[in-house]
Amino acid sequence: MAMRYIAIFILLFSSSSCKSHDQLTHAKPLTHGDVFISNGGGFALGFFSYPTSSNASLYLGIWYNNIPGPRTIVWVANRDNPILAPSSPVLAITNSSDLVLSDSQGHTPWAVKKNSTGAGGIAVLLDEGNLVLRLPNGKITWQSFDHPTDTVLPKMRFLVSYKAKVAMRLVAWKGPDDPSSGDFSCSGDPSSPDLQFVTWNKTEPYCRLTVWSGKSVSGGTYLTNTSSVLYQTTVNSGDEFYVTYTISDNSTLMRLMIDYTGKLKYLRWNRHTSSWAIFGEHLSVPCELYASCGPFSYCDFTQITPACQCVDGFEPDDGVNFFSKGCHRQEALKCGKQSHFAPLSGMKVPDNFLHIRNRSLDECAAECSRNCSCTAYAYSDLSSAGAMADPSRCLVWSGELIDAGKSISGENMYIRLADSPGKWRKKKNQKKLMLGYFSTSKELEGNSTEFPSVTFEDILSATIFFADSNLLGRGGFGKVYKGTFEGENVVAVKRLSQNSGQGTVEFRNEVVLIAKLQHKNLVRLLGCCIHGDEKLLIYEYQPNKSLDSYLFDGARKYELDWLTRFKIIKGIARGILYLHQDSRLTIIHRDLKASNILLDKEMTPKISDFGMARIFGANQNQANTNRVVGTYGYMSPEYAMRGAFSVKSDTYSFGVLLLEIVSGLKISSPQLIANFSSLITYAWRLWEDKKATELVDCSVCCKLLTS
Ligand SMILES: *[C@@H]1O[C@H](CO)[C@@H](O)[C@H](O)[C@H]1NC(C)=O
Ligand SMILES: *[C@@H]1O[C@H](CO)[C@@H](O)[C@H](O)[C@H]1NC(C)=O
Ligand SMILES: *[C@@H]1O[C@H](CO)[C@@H](O)[C@H](O)[C@H]1NC(C)=O
Ligand SMILES: *[C@@H]1O[C@H](CO)[C@@H](O)[C@H](O)[C@H]1NC(C)=O
Ligand SMILES: *[C@@H]1O[C@H](CO)[C@@H](O)[C@H](O)[C@H]1NC(C)=O
Ligand SMILES: *[C@@H]1O[C@H](CO)[C@@H](O)[C@H](O)[C@H]1NC(C)=O
Ligand SMILES: *[C@@H]1O[C@H](CO)[C@@H](O)[C@H](O)[C@H]1NC(C)=O
Ligand SMILES: *[C@@H]1O[C@H](CO)[C@@H](O)[C@H](O)[C@H]1NC(C)=O
Ligand SMILES: *[C@@H]1O[C@H](CO)[C@@H](O)[C@H](O)[C@H]1NC(C)=O
Ligand SMILES: *[C@@H]1O[C@H](CO)[C@@H](O)[C@H](O)[C@H]1NC(C)=O
Ligand SMILES: *[C@@H]1O[C@H](CO)[C@@H](O)[C@H](O)[C@H]1NC(C)=O
Repeated sequence: MAMRYIAIFILLFSSSSCKSHDQLTHAKPLTHGDVFISNGGGFALGFFSYPTSSNASLYLGIWYNNIPGPRTIVWVANRDNPILAPSSPVLAITNSSDLVLSDSQGHTPWAVKKNSTGAGGIAVLLDEGNLVLRLPNGKITWQSFDHPTDTVLPKMRFLVSYKAKVAMRLVAWKGPDDPSSGDFSCSGDPSSPDLQFVTWNKTEPYCRLTVWSGKSVSGGTYLTNTSSVLYQTTVNSGDEFYVTYTISDNSTLMRLMIDYTGKLKYLRWNRHTSSWAIFGEHLSVPCELYASCGPFSYCDFTQITPACQCVDGFEPDDGVNFFSKGCHRQEALKCGKQSHFAPLSGMKVPDNFLHIRNRSLDECAAECSRNCSCTAYAYSDLSSAGAMADPSRCLVWSGELIDAGKSISGENMYIRLADSPGKWRKKKNQKKLMLGYFSTSKELEGNSTEFPSVTFEDILSATIFFADSNLLGRGGFGKVYKGTFEGENVVAVKRLSQNSGQGTVEFRNEVVLIAKLQHKNLVRLLGCCIHGDEKLLIYEYQPNKSLDSYLFDGARKYELDWLTRFKIIKGIARGILYLHQDSRLTIIHRDLKASNILLDKEMTPKISDFGMARIFGANQNQANTNRVVGTYGYMSPEYAMRGAFSVKSDTYSFGVLLLEIVSGLKISSPQLIANFSSLITYAWRLWEDKKATELVDCSVCCKLLTS
């Protein structure tokens, strides 16, 4: 009997404590020694001080509630106005629903005044670590997530608002035991939509993060020793820009913070060692320090020991040891003299760029080309991460290039170099050299006759001089046109853009590979053409375009009933099996995605775009690359993060494609971002909740119901 009473007592006690202890009301203020615990027990709100500090300053803060050891403080209200003992603090809600921190001497070191007319507001500590001030009508008038201290927690939006010209700023503590504002901070710049975050030492840039190039969801980072995946989501509406983190399994604790030495750290809680483990850091190597490599030099993060390197076409200012001195041109650049733009891949683009609005890639290149003082440009399409009026991102540089880097997640940029006399001669001979190359190429040896070369003049007439009306689409490396030979043979002509990353290597790859491959689920190459700088590939024409043109089109997706989708899935799988196992070679495609699956008139899928494919030897099963190419979202995490790829990388992409075909949703659909960072987390959640059938595209269900 006694036992039963105790049990009932505990039940009553714990349920009532859960109800009241995460809320601050007018009748229930927070006093020194008291703590509020969030509903799920994740975070605590209360007063803290450091015994090591001689003046025992008291601060109002939020910390993790259920981890052992010293408190990990994630937010401080009155960091620069501590309450000094013996005065005792009270946090209370006023009659007008304001949140006020006061001390017994009548000072108000911190307050949130919203001038609400009504009483009855409450402050609630949510389980994600967010303190919110809420009116009786449910309206949230203030939240601590909008006013971070030095820490970003999962689900918080780290925001730059261009419209309101405000940016959130993380400000480091002054010391390990001193929460007052230190010299280091991290923020974006609200005055110009530069789409980059910088850490600062007072007003000097300290370390600059990569300029955003349009990836809405990062490939996902597996956190070691957990089953969790961390996703970074970036949303840009043009008016505002924010980054947010989500974890697939919310029992893993993760935070991003700037420490008192100015380092930006990604940390996760390690249960085994009961400590915070760093899984990402800026600055992590000396040459990541802002502009430390000097002009026209970059910090090469792809090396085991990152060090400064000169940009191609430049040489060190002081011979060998050019650290901090920079590099100069091998061939001087003069206005009016011949110059060209050389592509640099995998770059963290330099600082001090000019962001030019509303330009296409070609217009961006032209913008730089026609201005003698322009030294480089970079272009990106940002449309995958939000609905912006102008999703183009054309960056141009004039003068010196500083604070560049090279990393596996970098982007392409183009740098102006003078044509050296030698180079110019080589360029003129290029046609001959390239053709010579093919005829001596081992891969095509003896079989080149099976492979008709088409003249450039024939292609011009077939495509009516590359008329816009014949444009079928834009691939990663150029444009695709419809062409008609002799009035009836319809083909697709892929014209590689001269500034594309697809240089001779990729072109050769594609020609040699597809020439060898014969399978009904792979697109057939009919011919190729090299003319000066022009590289062209001629394929079978596929009347029903590509899979994405159906799948992600509100009206056309209804034409893909389940049987058709299943046929497409099986076809892609057969094509991949052929590439991986059944052909004489092991071929890894590396860029499987909906836009690379073409559909013939019977809706048979044809895998296309082999520009990035790699051939593996018989006994090879994994490789690494410094140059990660492909499409974010479709890339397996180990490939996106470390450049490691194998047949499994294609299998991962196929899995993503499968989810897209079943759900009719894009891997990074902006409409899903509100609740789930990506299609993968969405699918996983539905699967875990045993609601996987909800993933199925409504247009398939409707079809089933009406037929
Ligand atoms: C302690 O407080 C006094 C008065 O507020 C101040 O002058 C002194 O600098 C403080 N000492 C430390 C170590 O913070
Ligand atoms: C706040 O409301 C209480 C009663 O609810 C009242 O006694 C008190 O005078 C009010 N204080 C102010 C400052 O209006
Ligand atoms: C609240 O009212 C005071 C005095 O009327 C004013 O100074 C303050 O700017 C107002 N605050 C807000 C957030 O509207
Ligand atoms: C921060 O800047 C100051 C000069 O304002 C400099 O003395 C100090 O060394 C810098 N700190 C670091 C870590 O670079
Ligand atoms: C992962 O767990 C193993 C043992 O469980 C431990 O030795 C190792 O340090 C852990 N690694 C990390 C990064 O937490
Ligand atoms: C974590 O996930 C569980 C199960 O999905 C859910 O019930 C719980 O509310 C989540 N907790 C947080 C803090 O989001
Ligand atoms: C060329 O670039 C410089 C520096 O960016 C700029 O000041 C100038 O207006 C540009 N000129 C033209 C014609 O675009
Ligand atoms: C972009 O430029 C085109 C013409 O070049 C113009 O029609 C369009 O309105 C511009 N868009 C924006 C957002 O400025
Ligand atoms: C060239 O063709 C012959 C016969 O048609 C074939 O045996 C040989 O393997 C081919 N060579 C290559 C490199 O594909
Ligand atoms: C595919 O193309 C063929 C030939 O143009 C056409 O008859 C057919 O309707 C198309 N199928 C779909 C689903 O659009
Ligand atoms: C997202 O969350 C909102 C509110 O919690 C809910 O109404 C909506 O259905 C959710 N959307 C999806 C796609 O789950």
